[in-house]
Amino acid sequence: MTIEIDKVAPLALGGNVFGWTADAATSFALMDGFVAAGGQMIDTADSYSAWVPGHVGGESETVLGEWLKASGKRNEVVIASKVGFLEGLAPEVVRRACEGSLKRLGTEIDLYYLHTDDQKVPLADTLGAFDALVREGKVRRIGLSNFTSERIDEVMATCETEGFAKPVALQPWYNLVERTRYEEGLADAAARHGLAVFTYYSIANGFLAGKYRSKVDLSKSPRGLRNIAYLEGRGPAVLAAMDAISAETGAPLATIALAWLAAQPTVTAPIASATSEAQLAELTASLSLTLTSEQLETLDAASAG
Ligand SMILES: NC(=O)c1ccc[n+]([C@@H]2O[C@H](COP(=O)([O-])OP(=O)(O)OC[C@H]3O[C@@H](n4cnc5c(N)ncnc54)[C@H](OP(=O)(O)O)[C@@H]3O)[C@@H](O)[C@H]2O)c1
Repeated sequence: MTIEIDKVAPLALGGNVFGWTADAATSFALMDGFVAAGGQMIDTADSYSAWVPGHVGGESETVLGEWLKASGKRNEVVIASKVGFLEGLAPEVVRRACEGSLKRLGTEIDLYYLHTDDQKVPLADTLGAFDALVREGKVRRIGLSNFTSERIDEVMATCETEGFAKPVALQPWYNLVERTRYEEGLADAAARHGLAVFTYYSIANGFLAGKYRSKVDLSKSPRGLRNIAYLEGRGPAVLAAMDAISAETGAPLATIALAWLAAQPTVTAPIASATSEAQLAELTASLSLTLTSEQLETLDAASAG
């Protein structure tokens, strides 16, 4: 079965936790649970989780590759991985990194992202290396992450001129407490170029699950401190709006945050990670929650500006 990138179920499973805050056994259970709930895309990168002391990157892909082999579910999922944050995007780096990812995953990559914009390397050189990987069947499709709208235009123009395979997906940072960084420019660029959009930090590292409401809560997880800015500004108003919708629907806040993203016209699927099966259940519940237009308006108003 070939699952088209732009037709995947509207929730992707984030893999940066595999081998980090989710050990291998937990990660296996999460991937099994995700597929059983109807999920189809799993997102990883060669750099996950190099930020952890003692890790070098590739830990997430290794766990994912072991699960693919043990579960026999390769044909039920779309595998997305990325290169760029560890050593940039020079052609020889891209090729070497891709070979490493393929080895760890034990399979071809369905969607291979330029994880970041490496302006030290001419775009044509990087995109030529990606094009070669597509032609060799190592990579099925190409995506862009952390690019500005202007650079997306340049990427597309370069691919057109050079006859290279064009990116089909964009992975931006976007959620209810981070709207402008996507809505002011990137959303239009995605529409202009027909890119499927997969959002990251979709539940703001857990803030939009409602578990960080005061500074004391920030010690709840190694991710806690990432949420400090949201305790002020529009964060509390967004949580209040979500609390009201949770009271109406019975849905947990994490589910509502993902359903809001999935309802945005340019979003193909939000990406979110979980570190327990209980958390996963709240994420996959978004696959069957449709917010009313009134609820969407309430969330839009609380999160705007
Ligand atoms: N392209 C990029 O530059 C980029 C950057 C970042 C991430 N990503 C991708 O996007 C994915 C998603 O981002 P993310 O995992 O960093 O952040 P996220 O999805 O916004 O937050 C997920 C974290 O929130 C907590 N959580 C999940 N469900 C919960 C629930 N129901 N109740 C309470 N807490 C819950 C868990 O952390 P705790 O263990 O702390 O509870 C979980 O690991 C990543 O896995 C990665 O694949 C891409």
